[in-house]
Amino acid sequence: MKKIIVSGIILFLSLAGVALAGAAHAAGDAAAGKDKAAACGGCHGMDGNSLVPTFPKLAGQGEKYTVKQIADFKANTSRQDSMMLGMVAALSDEDAADIGAYYASQKLASAATADEGKLVLGREIYKGGNLQTGVPACQGCHGPTGAGMAAAGYPQLGGQHATYTLKQLNAFKDGSRSNDKDKLMRDVLAIMTTEEIEAVAQYIASLH
Ligand code: HEC
Ligand code: HEC
Repeated sequence: MKKIIVSGIILFLSLAGVALAGAAHAAGDAAAGKDKAAACGGCHGMDGNSLVPTFPKLAGQGEKYTVKQIADFKANTSRQDSMMLGMVAALSDEDAADIGAYYASQKLASAATADEGKLVLGREIYKGGNLQTGVPACQGCHGPTGAGMAAAGYPQLGGQHATYTLKQLNAFKDGSRSNDKDKLMRDVLAIMTTEEIEAVAQYIASLH
């Protein structure tokens, strides 16, 4: 009897948790986000189309992913960056949602510069992975054109600066970035060669 009551309570609590998680996922206000993102424009571009290879483009990025990155920079454990730490310190959850909605509403302007010589291997990996070593096709989660899957929190990658993408891939490989749930990215990078990593970063830059 006691066991039934306890499991009933656990079931109730987990249902309440699901309801709360649903309520907490209120969409941000893109118009409010535009003003709040003014300070970010110096590095990321006013509309999120950064021109500097070390500063990621944010235009067109899914809101859920952007909100998570802001929270992760703020927590400063699984994703650390001294520039971003200072920028997000004062942002509330509402600010983050508004900024995320603003960038999601902006259009990615163009592809980034890519090294043509690496595109054949890069495309192979992105579209089909490496069957011999077990590297999965990137497009399975990030989409055939690199648009990502916003609702799942899988980031848009297409058109991103290769310098930035390469830095992230290497950070997942050496574990200095560990904010990927269930090690989704770290497990992929663990089996990729340096050549494959460099090639796929170039191919991603060429997508748009
Ligand atoms: C001084 C330059 C600078 C400013 C200003 C700045 N950022 Fe960044 N931002 C960076 C750098 C550098 C990175 C990449 C960090 C890394 O290598 O992981 C980054 C990364 C990000 C990312 C992660 C992107 C991704 O694809 O994962 C988000 C989101 C972001 N910034 C949002 C913001 C917001 C919001 C603001 C304003 C409140 C802001 N940034 C202001 C330099 C800046
Ligand atoms: C099973 C799904 C899955 C597969 C397959 C996958 N990724 Fe990812 N990837 C993710 C998720 C989820 C994240 C976001 C992690 C987080 O929350 O920060 C991510 C993040 C990234 C990022 C960081 C983006 C940024 O803006 O900082 C890059 C780059 C990336 N993936 C490249 C790749 C490449 C290249 C491949 C193929 C070799 C690949 N991914 C395969 C799920 C996947």
